[in-house]
Amino acid sequence: MLKRLDELEREGQRELAEARDEEALQAWKVKYLGRSAELGRVLDGLRSVSKEERPALGKRSNEVKRAFETALEARLGSLASARLEHELQRERIDVTLPGRPLFRGRLHPATQTLRQILAIWAEMGFQVYRSRDVETDAYNFELLNMPAHHPARDMWDTFYTTTPGVVLRTHTSPGQIHVMRERAPEPIRVVLPGMCYRYEQVTARAEIQFNQIEGLAVGRNITFGDLKGTLTAFARRYFGHDVRTRFRAAHFPFTEPSAEMDIECFVCSGTGCPVCKHTGWLEILGSGMVHPTVLANGGYDPEEFSGFAFGMGSERISMLKHRIEDIRAFWANDLRFLEQF
Ligand code: DAH
Repeated sequence: MLKRLDELEREGQRELAEARDEEALQAWKVKYLGRSAELGRVLDGLRSVSKEERPALGKRSNEVKRAFETALEARLGSLASARLEHELQRERIDVTLPGRPLFRGRLHPATQTLRQILAIWAEMGFQVYRSRDVETDAYNFELLNMPAHHPARDMWDTFYTTTPGVVLRTHTSPGQIHVMRERAPEPIRVVLPGMCYRYEQVTARAEIQFNQIEGLAVGRNITFGDLKGTLTAFARRYFGHDVRTRFRAAHFPFTEPSAEMDIECFVCSGTGCPVCKHTGWLEILGSGMVHPTVLANGGYDPEEFSGFAFGMGSERISMLKHRIEDIRAFWANDLRFLEQF
């Protein structure tokens, strides 16, 4: 019996040394230390052994058992540290490798232009006022001195909604009425940015939606000279201090008199080229003295108050400044275009 225990110990240790992974160690444990292991049977059989043999045999089997346990413990430990070592090697990162560049976000060029233009007006004391995109026929046309069937309405190709009398605003001018009705009889100096919609053929010059910036000043002594001076000051701040400007007589139903403002063509410096259609000038906005009817519709007595107004297309202005040839580039979402700004 003692001899068998010696043999068993040798066999066990040899097989343990050969076990290569955790699974093999588990199998080894079952075989040598499990319920039905040979060692267990020896211990169970001690009762049937003679009293003289029993102590030595018991002592020896316990020794073998403890030796097995210690050896297994050690093997498990070294296997675990080998695995850890392996993981650490595998997951090693080279901190000296160059990083992957991150895409940097940026504001859309239309937003950038809007903000630049609004910042200039804010500096000149104009408050930014936001008005709605969906308007009633009354605000978009009638209160701006264009009754139903007035031929001037043809200047704007309108998107009508299924609700009678409700349209998508064709310009930011209806905001003038909203501000006046809120503020009357206080003096006003505001700019109203916003998206406008027109049922138009989309071309390099015209989109069905675009941003406009409307301006409105109402007070007791506002003159056409104020209009010219203020708009010229704006053009100098936005396009550069030596930009030349001119005003041309025009017609809008909501202003009287009305004028369009041009800046000198920066491509040919006024000598004439395809960009300015050989006129030497580029139109940037419509403007005029607020029509007495419009003042009255806003709640201001035209005998006491006067004002000027203007409206400019901010994408158009951005096109002039950055020499963008096609207005469709703004909403085409082509990154090659957008990333230039
Ligand atoms: N609302 C006009 C348009 O969309 C632009 C405009 C012209 C606005 C003259 C004005 C103005 O305030 O006084 O074509």
